[in-house]
Amino acid sequence: MVMRRSMTAWVFGAAALVGSGAAHGGCGGGEDLPASAVNEAKEIFAVRCAPCHGTSGKGDGPGAAALDPKPRDYTSAEWQKSVTDEQIEKIILGGGPAVGKSSTMPPNPDLDKKRAVVKALRAQVRGFAKK
Ligand code: HEC
Repeated sequence: MVMRRSMTAWVFGAAALVGSGAAHGGCGGGEDLPASAVNEAKEIFAVRCAPCHGTSGKGDGPGAAALDPKPRDYTSAEWQKSVTDEQIEKIILGGGPAVGKSSTMPPNPDLDKKRAVVKALRAQVRGFAKK
């Protein structure tokens, strides 16, 4: 119950940010992702992904030290070229084993109902690429 209520508050909080312009991260490659999904993805990345993938996407989060294989360096142009959008979305939802990779990359099955957030996370991963 408590969990549910705080979730709702959190979603509304994310929606409230929309007006502030924080949604325009410049990523998404012309995709029309709802600002609320983009904001939710940012929150999720900071909380669930950055501990391993690092706030700058280099795979240098505090949790990465103990991992083998290491999380990928999202800023690597070669890595960016090596994966498809579909593969990124699949690993986010199903975890490493869904694409034949390490199970240390955890699944996020709750996002199955939030495909726009998955796309926004993928856009965020793409956004770490060196320009
Ligand atoms: C417990 C640490 C951990 C967490 C938390 C984590 N990852 Fe990962 N992630 C990994 C590791 C380790 C790999 C590398 C797996 C491999 O190459 O076998 C990986 C790989 C990936 C890849 C690359 C897949 C590929 O084909 O190269 C993507 C994209 C990714 N993670 C996205 C995310 C996102 C988005 C989140 C948050 C929702 C997240 N990860 C949370 C550890 C983590």
